[in-house]
Amino acid sequence: MAGRIRTKIVGTGSYLPEKVLTNADLEKKVDTSDKWIITRTGIRERRMAARSQATSDLGYEAAVQALESAGMKARDLDLILVATCTPDALMPSTACYLQSRLGARKAAAMDLNAACTGFVYGITVADSMIRAGAAKNCLLVGAEILTRFINWNDRGTCILFADGAGAVVMAPTGLGRSEVLTTHLYADGRQAGLLCIPALGSRKPATPAVLEKGLNTVHMKGNETFKLAVKGMAQAAQQAFKATGLSRDDLSLFIPHQANIRIIEATAKRLKIPMSKVMVNIDRYGNTSAATIPIALDEAVLRGRIKRGDLVLLGAFGAGFTWGSALLRW
Ligand code: UT7
Repeated sequence: MAGRIRTKIVGTGSYLPEKVLTNADLEKKVDTSDKWIITRTGIRERRMAARSQATSDLGYEAAVQALESAGMKARDLDLILVATCTPDALMPSTACYLQSRLGARKAAAMDLNAACTGFVYGITVADSMIRAGAAKNCLLVGAEILTRFINWNDRGTCILFADGAGAVVMAPTGLGRSEVLTTHLYADGRQAGLLCIPALGSRKPATPAVLEKGLNTVHMKGNETFKLAVKGMAQAAQQAFKATGLSRDDLSLFIPHQANIRIIEATAKRLKIPMSKVMVNIDRYGNTSAATIPIALDEAVLRGRIKRGDLVLLGAFGAGFTWGSALLRW
């Protein structure tokens, strides 16, 4: 009975490029300091993809691990979703490049762009398609190479954004087993200008003048974004509790988007969730946009911070603005 199908995360994986970019390295590029970056963002270092790597290559490494942990082969997949705002190319989708490298011939493939909220949007799409019977085994990847779209003279952004990938395999399960309990998505396109890469699309094609002005890089009003990120993530989390009748006391782990330690702490405070129940790895990886949550989720699983039966909350906020939450029973 289609109505009784629920969705379960059956495997996780992640990949971080080898090259480490420390705050000391950034001190040499731009007027900043290790102390400022640590106190204002919580970031100590981040990863940078090799020139030869594209976003799908990072996604591939994470996907291979997720498939292995799920005990599945690429040919078992019937859907590949890649959440990214830094795709390999404008077309075809990064998911198609990934499908080819994996040899997942039976899988439909598409990208999903909700910027830093992409993974939570992706969980919602995969969960909906699986519950509707439109897909069975779904690979959901969050992968980004943000360092290709950074203005290295803008100290407000170049210290934050980084590269990485995380992946999950999602599959049908019976009601009452570990499952995606509820998801909540939001967007406010009126705020598009506060965080964006203005050029490279149809609105502003890449002309020499556009490139000269650096419009092919991330532009952000950090302060406004900060405030709305806290408000949005807290609101989406509260909706998840309201929809399920569960509370923060039932929660084992909160995995927020890793944008800034102060955003994470302020959101946890609003939700009255102690920091001991919050997953934080921004110190090592910075903000990898759609990849932060699946990377943190994989780390939490590998470190035994998530056990069977645990209640896990995911919360994200990003360009658009977009924001959302997902509540999982592990
Ligand atoms: O992932 C999607 C969502 N993205 C986010 O959520 C990011 C949200 N925003 C932030 O994380 C923070 O706003 C930033 C880290 C970007 C900036 O921190 P802030 O505490 O909001 O700083 P600010 O923009 O209010 O700037 C305070 C001062 C300014 O100097 P003046 O004007 O007071 O002299 C900045 O120029 O800090 C200066 N500043 C820096 N100083 C040293 C900004 N960036 C830097 C830097 N190093 N890297």
